Amino acid sequence: MKDLPYVHLIDHPLVQHKLTLMRRKDASTNSFRTLLNELSMLMAYEVTRDMEVSYIEIETPMETMMAPTIDGKKLALISILRAGNGILDGMLQVVPGARVGHIGLYRDPTTLEAVEYFFKVPQNMHERDVIMVDPMLATGNSAAAAVTRIKKTQPKSIKFLCLLTCPEGIKALHAAHPDVHIYTAAIDRQLNDHGYILPGLGDAGDRIFGTK
Ligand code: URA
Repeated sequence: MKDLPYVHLIDHPLVQHKLTLMRRKDASTNSFRTLLNELSMLMAYEVTRDMEVSYIEIETPMETMMAPTIDGKKLALISILRAGNGILDGMLQVVPGARVGHIGLYRDPTTLEAVEYFFKVPQNMHERDVIMVDPMLATGNSAAAAVTRIKKTQPKSIKFLCLLTCPEGIKALHAAHPDVHIYTAAIDRQLNDHGYILPGLGDAGDRIFGTK
């Protein structure tokens, strides 16, 4: 799994340490949220590593030089509701100019199809690189449906950033979208029968928002 070309495991010790603290069942809502925020900043470095830079002329106290800058506005962060929102703040601290969109999907209990209940993204998506965020890439069904929806807006590129995934989630997302690079801090052992990741960290939304 580690060597899949479109899967990027962010194995920096700081990321791994913070993830361990988050996984513990006795982590409070406050510390879970703080750690997720810190982790999102750290993961933002990795996921934006190949961002385009352009060179502008600046004056240092010594002389004039051509120096690299990024245009954060070209980036669109798309949060998959609701747990994706937990990743936004940390990422925006690192790339404050990024635009933000939201997509909400639920699974129809009869057809088991993903149904969209909310969709709002920045204008001119065709000019933007997209990073879709959701802490847990589990069954991959809603991730795949969300990517399908975002592809209709024709962005320049799409990456998928999560905290945790499992072989089943990677397989499902890449079966539908083999071109999407997945960035994750861990690939856990498996899914259970209820679609939860093992060993995982439980329900990310409930832990971020304190709803359980
Ligand atoms: N969503 C979660 O919040 N946790 C899981 O383990 C799987 C999906």
